Amino acid sequence: MAFIFDLDGVIVDTAKYHYLAWHQLADRLGIPFNKADNERLKGVSRVQSLELLLSLGGRRISAAEKQQYLEEKNRQYLSFVHKMTTDEILPGVPALLDFLDANHIRYALGSASKNAALILQKVGLYERFSAIVDGNEVAQAKPAPEVFLLGAQKLKVQAQDCVVVEDAIAGVEAARAAGMKCIGIGDKEVLGKADIVFKEMADIDINYIKNLINND
Ligand code: BG6
Ligand code: MG
Repeated sequence: MAFIFDLDGVIVDTAKYHYLAWHQLADRLGIPFNKADNERLKGVSRVQSLELLLSLGGRRISAAEKQQYLEEKNRQYLSFVHKMTTDEILPGVPALLDFLDANHIRYALGSASKNAALILQKVGLYERFSAIVDGNEVAQAKPAPEVFLLGAQKLKVQAQDCVVVEDAIAGVEAARAAGMKCIGIGDKEVLGKADIVFKEMADIDINYIKNLINND
């Protein structure tokens, strides 16, 4: 048994920074963009997020312009990331990682973000993960299972022995496609395909985790 954690919106509160950075770009392009639209961008790669944003505005632009907007969004996003401290580890995360450590359960990171290593370093969690898979390593982004399958491979465990923790629809679908169990973090209505959904990381029932471990 092993765990694979998503990063943005699960380990750290960066989902809000992605939203702010996309919103700023959407405003500049005159594309209406709200929190419901943003749900579809969660867990999705940077380039696919831009495609989704442009499709919301029915916009078609050149490859050069796309590149420029991707860089602009990431610059804006990184301006938030550079200010991050350990304060932005989501409540409930340290306790859960401590519990897994105490029970000798290994865990990896499985993130679509190309900024994952930087963010983990900023919040002082980089060294704690047994393996890290991020957006620099995978060819197919979530909802494809690749990121999680590679995580299982790095942890040297079978896919069916992995539990994924995810806050995004695309991530829950990726976990399912990988044949893994999935704990959703957020709204039940949005993450219905997960095995169980907790509103926030701090709400994860440790007895549920204990049962998962004991029934392994
Ligand atoms: C995911 C986020 O973790 O990473 C997405 O949920 C984001 O919102 C994606 O687009 C890619 O992140 P980055 O940092 O490479 O732009
Ligand atoms: Mg996420």
